[in-house]
Amino acid sequence: MTSTPTITPAATGVDTTDDLLRTGAVVHAGSGAARQWWRDAVIYQVYPRSFADANGDGIGDIPGVTARLDHLEALGVDAVWLSPFYRSPQNDAGYDVADYRDVDPLFGTLADFDDLLAGAHARGIRVIVDLVPNHSSDQHAWFQAALAAAPGSAERARYMFRDGRGADGSQEPNNWQSIFGGPAWTRVTEPDGSPGQWYLHLFDSTQPDLDWTNPEVRAEFEDVLRFWLDRGVDGFRVDVAHGLVKADGLPDWDGHVEMVAGSTDDAADESTGDVEPGAPEDGSTGAGNHGPMFDQDGVHDVYRAWHRVLAEYDGDRCLVAEAWVEPLSRLARYVRPDEMHQAFNFSFLTTGWDAAALRTVMEASYRANDEVGAPTTWVLSNHDVVRHPSRLGSADPSLKVNGVFATDPQPDEELGLRRARAASLLMLGLPGSAYLYQGEELGLPEHTALPAEVRQDPAFFRTGGTEAGRDGCRVPLPWSADAPGYGFGPAGDPWLPQPESFARYAADVQYGVEGSTFETYRGALALRKAEGLGHGALAWLEAFAASADVVALRNQDVVVLANLGTEPVVLPRGAQVLIASGPVLADRSADPQMRVPADTTVWLRA
Ligand code: NOJ
Ligand code: CA
Repeated sequence: MTSTPTITPAATGVDTTDDLLRTGAVVHAGSGAARQWWRDAVIYQVYPRSFADANGDGIGDIPGVTARLDHLEALGVDAVWLSPFYRSPQNDAGYDVADYRDVDPLFGTLADFDDLLAGAHARGIRVIVDLVPNHSSDQHAWFQAALAAAPGSAERARYMFRDGRGADGSQEPNNWQSIFGGPAWTRVTEPDGSPGQWYLHLFDSTQPDLDWTNPEVRAEFEDVLRFWLDRGVDGFRVDVAHGLVKADGLPDWDGHVEMVAGSTDDAADESTGDVEPGAPEDGSTGAGNHGPMFDQDGVHDVYRAWHRVLAEYDGDRCLVAEAWVEPLSRLARYVRPDEMHQAFNFSFLTTGWDAAALRTVMEASYRANDEVGAPTTWVLSNHDVVRHPSRLGSADPSLKVNGVFATDPQPDEELGLRRARAASLLMLGLPGSAYLYQGEELGLPEHTALPAEVRQDPAFFRTGGTEAGRDGCRVPLPWSADAPGYGFGPAGDPWLPQPESFARYAADVQYGVEGSTFETYRGALALRKAEGLGHGALAWLEAFAASADVVALRNQDVVVLANLGTEPVVLPRGAQVLIASGPVLADRSADPQMRVPADTTVWLRA
């Protein structure tokens, strides 16, 4: 580890672009041009219930998204991913699907969906929808039929029903815990009124797990894929992609799964003496889920079959895996050439604000994905994690992936925003595909002071309120600083309260304002496209390749330099700053030298 070279001409004489900006070994070879659109796409996650409310019931809806397509077009994204809008009792905000082929009346109609799709396509924006195959809602017709049918029936065989343990079957079939807290099994009452079998639910008890060893389940989901492909969608984000197939016999497991940030397998660690997760060279951060319910080899057959279904359609449709799997080499198995096309890079998301760790996870990401010919993805926020300005403004930026209570140490908002903008500009300068979560282009922080009465995440309730849950990153967007509900909808009462700070972040006070977070994202996306950064080659700048403070790289004709340290980095004379995540300082000479302050990223023409 060396410290950041702070170059001043008087002290070192090093003031030429050549010396400071010399590149070292290539970390990732570029592809020249993206072969398929998704390889270098910037994909924007719309969380429909919190994006924009068209009908004034306080909940975002599909017509609300359609009405705001101008925002997405102005931002310059290539695609949107819509979180679930299907028929659902909304016990897990729509990740509990009762009908995979219809729109929930809360969000609109199938005709509204078709309008959105047509409107997006007319603007050149592709649309990815969410597929939730690990579990359905308990209100799904299949589960209702399973409850009405007898043990051993074909109806029960679509789910994971098992007899209980103990003489009277009153104990859970195994010791698995739900990721939302509490046991992963619920006992049913049989149609004749007697205490009956148990069913597995890795999440809420209203989200029964489907049995993916059953060909009927496989056929049904291939049909669901075709239903949406026929309507014209460009791809699917696959929920819990690493969880569909469980280990044979459903063996007991002594580990514990955190909601979104990995799991510990105490028993395995003790018995094998395995290396702890977090081994620096593979980029792991502890974000991977372990245990007999995750990342089983059998799951890959499912994705090979889906790959074949998508390949029947034109237009390079794609599948993106939500799989909390580490190390990255293991995650890359989901994006082998005949499986999915992308997988979210949660190792990157959970790395925190550390130059060496970021370089390590980037190298590991390219190594693993290049091996299988897939693009790596980059992501900093989504609807399951604390928004990255609040994570990076916390004392330990690698922690706090789950929610924050008002009684927790509060993030430093200003520091967090500065770092978040720097982190995003670094991310957008990398080859591969990048995911944005709605509101990050406004710099929105987490709502860290939601009162218990308004919380809705089942994880809050199933942990008896010990985990805050994910509501704080799902607060409805502010569109207008002065309107009731900050313009989220025509009425002023959104489904979750917005913090007063949202007035500062509203879209209308950022549009056209130089240096605003929105304009910085917009500028970065335009430059990224113009410079071909999404499919470029990446090499570290030698001068910073071991720096504890700076991540600096060349991609195409652009140098990306992020200063994570506390001291300014002085750039060589003549360096042309293309875009910066915050103010860049220059001295007053005729040929000024730029200084990149702490927690700032710049893109340079050099
Ligand atoms: C992952 C989704 O992103 C999350 O929101 C959901 O609660 C679980 N999967 C269960 O579907
Ligand atoms: Ca609405």
